[in-house]
Amino acid sequence: AATNSFAARLLTWFDQHGRHDLPWQDPRTPYHVWISEIMLQQTQVSTVIPYFIKFMESFPTVAALAEADQDTVLSHWAGLGYYARARNLHKAAKTIVEKFNGEFPNTLETIQELPGIGRSTAGAILSMGFGIRAPILDGNVKRVLCRHDAIEGWPGKREIETRLWELADAYTPEERVTDYTQAIMDLGATLCTRSKPACARCPMETTCQGLAQDMTDQLPTPKAG
Ligand code: ADE
Repeated sequence: AATNSFAARLLTWFDQHGRHDLPWQDPRTPYHVWISEIMLQQTQVSTVIPYFIKFMESFPTVAALAEADQDTVLSHWAGLGYYARARNLHKAAKTIVEKFNGEFPNTLETIQELPGIGRSTAGAILSMGFGIRAPILDGNVKRVLCRHDAIEGWPGKREIETRLWELADAYTPEERVTDYTQAIMDLGATLCTRSKPACARCPMETTCQGLAQDMTDQLPTPKAG
């Protein structure tokens, strides 16, 4: 699948309507992508931006983060919550310095072994930080895929999640992987929102099975449903 139709339409939309001015997009190193993805896990973009800028000023490299003391790192997290994220960042930075000479590892397996980095974040770092093709499957992407392919069942369930990873992989193109990854997250964050999705403006409208079956408001299926 060089560039499938799903990816082609998404990329055309992204060029016109995607977010191109986020502070972690320039420069876009594995380190920048990693820090931004961790901050964005439970916190929205507008809140993260000033924290990200300040964090990068204080810790411009993995080595700088590794050398900082824990309290200094945690003080940059005050207000973001979920402090385990900051402790894991610090620990992972030390591992990268000690085990990988300060060079961010560039395989899915190795990245995932770092504390606090799951499969989706590892995919985001590979695709956006290195330009290496890798699918992601965060909450926004799960919602987009559940709707587009009308996948019923709670996405936290093993079979459903396996199916979603297969789809995420199948739709990820060989080309423009950085843009594609940002694009599918942007689609989920700005159009394919949890409530009242903007289907009329969505580039996936013509192939969205959830929309065709008038099920967008029931997808993704909630846990108890
Ligand atoms: N949410 C998670 N990752 C993101 C990113 N790279 N840009 C915008 N929102 C995000």
